[in-house]
Amino acid sequence: MKVAVIGTGYVGLVVGACLAETGNDVICVDINPERVAQLQGGGIPIYEPGLGELVHRNSRKGRLSFTTDTGEAVKQSLVIFLAVPTPMDEDGSADLQHVLDAARQVALSSNNYKIIVDKSTVPVGTAAMVKEVVSKLTDHPFDIVSNPEFLKEGNAVEDFMKPDRVVIGCDSTRAEAIIRDLYAPFVRTGHPIVTMRVESAELTKYAANAFLAAKISFINEIARLCERVGADIYEVRLGIGSDRRIGPSFLFPGMGFGGSCFPKDLRALVHTASGKDLDLEVVRAAIAANERQKRFIPDKIRAHFEGKMEGLRFALWGLAFKANTDDMRESPALEVIDFLLEAGASVKAYDPQAMETARSIYGGRIGYAPDDYACLDGADALVVATEWNEFRRPDFDRMKGLMRRPVIFDGRNLFDPRRMRELGFEYYGVGRV
Ligand SMILES: NC(=O)c1ccc[n+]([C@@H]2O[C@H](COP(=O)([O-])OP(=O)(O)OC[C@H]3O[C@@H](n4cnc5c(N)ncnc54)[C@H](O)[C@@H]3O)[C@@H](O)[C@H]2O)c1
Repeated sequence: MKVAVIGTGYVGLVVGACLAETGNDVICVDINPERVAQLQGGGIPIYEPGLGELVHRNSRKGRLSFTTDTGEAVKQSLVIFLAVPTPMDEDGSADLQHVLDAARQVALSSNNYKIIVDKSTVPVGTAAMVKEVVSKLTDHPFDIVSNPEFLKEGNAVEDFMKPDRVVIGCDSTRAEAIIRDLYAPFVRTGHPIVTMRVESAELTKYAANAFLAAKISFINEIARLCERVGADIYEVRLGIGSDRRIGPSFLFPGMGFGGSCFPKDLRALVHTASGKDLDLEVVRAAIAANERQKRFIPDKIRAHFEGKMEGLRFALWGLAFKANTDDMRESPALEVIDFLLEAGASVKAYDPQAMETARSIYGGRIGYAPDDYACLDGADALVVATEWNEFRRPDFDRMKGLMRRPVIFDGRNLFDPRRMRELGFEYYGVGRV
């Protein structure tokens, strides 16, 4: 099948590469000419496990190509995915400018029947808006499909290749059959393709993210209570997670959720509801609890050093908002860095993948270490901000030898508190005793 993917970011590039992998002819479009040139030259602009291999293999086989020319890509394709950003607007709503721009470009280049697929996370009513915009600009037939994406950064290729489910919102049997056909190779093991009305598909994505975010905020809150009452969140987590109604995943307390999706999507959902005179109290509480959780580690640092952080040197392990990505959008590490710089401390950071991203944000305001140990040299404390596997089993004696004071603020609960105390560290986790 001939497919175009408009927007070649974390979602678009994965979608394009995975669809090419199953034999489709895919052309990926981006308005960023440097990104396209990099991809054309064999470079991969983002870090995502397994993605480079997939892009290279399919480019070599001639099934995957990159362009800045939307018109050309649209003319050649039957199915056109919109995978452009939907950032948060000032009032909390989703900014649809990129989606509508892309839709206009598709309409202007249309030359026969097209299926326009909303892959971006968009509020209920967007498909109807896209339909209106497109129908004003073309007489060629088209259908709109809402097909929200549920991949996780850091595991995106695997998630797309083996999705728990595929959601298709559509009111055209012709388009539904074609999109089902496109996804058939990914659901061979029996995971469902769930078809529904367009509005339900649009809402499903937000509802899923809000539920997951609420789960995180819930466990963070219980972790705080653990600290007050002498319970250990790891024990509580195992105790509740074994209940099948609750499930074991997403029950790890930390520094608050971040990333490019949860924060903006929850706010957009609240905005959608308030426009319909409905207050989503649970979702608002998840947002508020998360704002408080982002200050959890800064508060611990302030308490430990009795507010005197000026001139202290902090090592930071992890910058990305979670492991296996270079994405720092809304990363909890940002909160920690800003807090420390504001308090007059200095920060030296190391992350296996996000160093370049951090440089583009902080430039010379923080230091960058070539590895995790180099970061610790002369440090007054270490803050662990991302749960990278390579941080889990370090040489603690070596760490102690390098640090000026053996103090660790472990925002990801990577280490065992009892062991750390035995080793002579002053150790702070999240909800652990
Ligand atoms: N990142 C995730 O984990 C994830 C998961 C599920 C859904 N989503 C949703 O998918 C959408 C895309 O997210 P992302 O993280 O891939 O964004 P991104 O910022 O990584 O990539 C978007 C790309 O689109 C390009 N672009 C913008 N306008 C364009 C246009 N008119 N024509 C061509 N290219 C254009 C940008 O240059 C950029 O490269 C968002 O709605 C997001 O909420 C993201």
